[in-house]
Amino acid sequence: MKSVYIETYGCQMNVADSETVGGLLARHGYALAATPDEADVILLNTCAVREHAEERVLGRLGEMARYKQLRPGVVLGVLGCMAQHLKGRLLEQNRFVDLVAGPDSYRRLPDLLEQAANERILDVRLNHTELYDGIEPARQEGVTAWITVQRGCDKHCTFCIVPAVRGRERCVPLEDVLREAETVAARGVREVCLLGQTVNSYHDGRHDFADLLRAVAQVPGLLRIRFTSPYPTDFNDRTIEVMATEPKIARHVHLPLQSASDRVLEKARRRYNISGFDAILRRLREAIPGIAVSTDIIVGFHGEDEAAFRETCDYLEKARFDFAFMFKYSKRSQTAAYRWKEEIDEETKTRRLQRVIEIQERISREIQQACVGQTAKVLVEGTSRKSGDRLFGRTSEFRQVVFDAEERGGRQIRPGDLVTVQFTSATGHTLLGRLVEGDGHEDLHQRR
Ligand code: SAH
Ligand code: F3S
Repeated sequence: MKSVYIETYGCQMNVADSETVGGLLARHGYALAATPDEADVILLNTCAVREHAEERVLGRLGEMARYKQLRPGVVLGVLGCMAQHLKGRLLEQNRFVDLVAGPDSYRRLPDLLEQAANERILDVRLNHTELYDGIEPARQEGVTAWITVQRGCDKHCTFCIVPAVRGRERCVPLEDVLREAETVAARGVREVCLLGQTVNSYHDGRHDFADLLRAVAQVPGLLRIRFTSPYPTDFNDRTIEVMATEPKIARHVHLPLQSASDRVLEKARRRYNISGFDAILRRLREAIPGIAVSTDIIVGFHGEDEAAFRETCDYLEKARFDFAFMFKYSKRSQTAAYRWKEEIDEETKTRRLQRVIEIQERISREIQQACVGQTAKVLVEGTSRKSGDRLFGRTSEFRQVVFDAEERGGRQIRPGDLVTVQFTSATGHTLLGRLVEGDGHEDLHQRR
């Protein structure tokens, strides 16, 4: 029996894609290996969204060459967005790579891998109908399952390579998503996260995102529903209504802002200005009190002069996001902005990135600190990595919590349990707490 090792880079969608690839290859007789040490096939599922992501993979490919030197029969493949982005160049510039296959090529992988044992293979055809239906992913055992409900992206933000490497937007029919959710729930999964590049623009021809959320929230056995990432202005009243009324839908939303300057937003071809974004943020916070909001920020994109940058800093102070992912703009080929003359030097980008990180870290800390003393329901995910006798999990707001794993009424608390924890202190990005009786209703934040 041949074995395959898959290493995943980038976003949650890549994690889900790797599970699809794992499931597909398992069905074709491959064993899934936990390390590359003895695997016959080594696959890196890659990200192209920033140059740094690609550099990391190139470094790792260099290391992986060692396995081919030790065992010449090993097939080394690059999958995903970077494969789609660099295509044949990956083969030309890395003589150890045997296979390059893009995000829509995975159904052909069993054949491609056989061919790759004899010749070097490139397969980067995009297919705007590929949804990998009928393939059972080899999911990680755990409390959470990721379900891809939408592939590709039609927004074409001028900085972003995703539409070029993942193709047109298409959606998995609601019935299929539901069946998948029911399957994982029956196996003990307690939380599902619905994935799409602009997940709230979901439409399968008959049902929209509000329908989808409402339907998944009814699946027996599931305790929490999450989704990522929505596009800020693709929220409609119905979706917000469903989020506000379905108690299993997590009180957290990732709302990628990018910049708070209208000029930068326009250059980025985001389909909102700052007042439009702020209106959505306020609507969500009004409809769902206590909802946690996270965001993405890019510094140093075109049009970001000092005044524009200050607008972003000021808005971070005003919006008070719970946390943020912050990036320096990275020029990507196959994007509209690629040919524009760079306006912002590296030093300025670095300084601006440090500044937004400083601001946001302080705000995140303040918000964490304000949680101390409160209680909330925590979905237990596992044992704490640092100390095995403690458990960790997350609140509905996606706050990470570590607490002592005492018995409860003579019963051991296990992953998948929903317990009530009172927060005793906050360190970095984690809340520490202790188990308390009750179902969390006493908490002001815990409306339901
Ligand atoms: N809609 C997708 C976006 C994928 S890219 C999603 O949220 O799932 C994720 C984030 O990477 C974007 O929100 C943006 O903040 C950042 N990003 C995308 N292209 C970038 C680039 N060229 N340089 C720096 N950051 C970028
Ligand atoms: Fe990228 Fe914009 Fe789509 S950030 S994934 S083109 S919404």
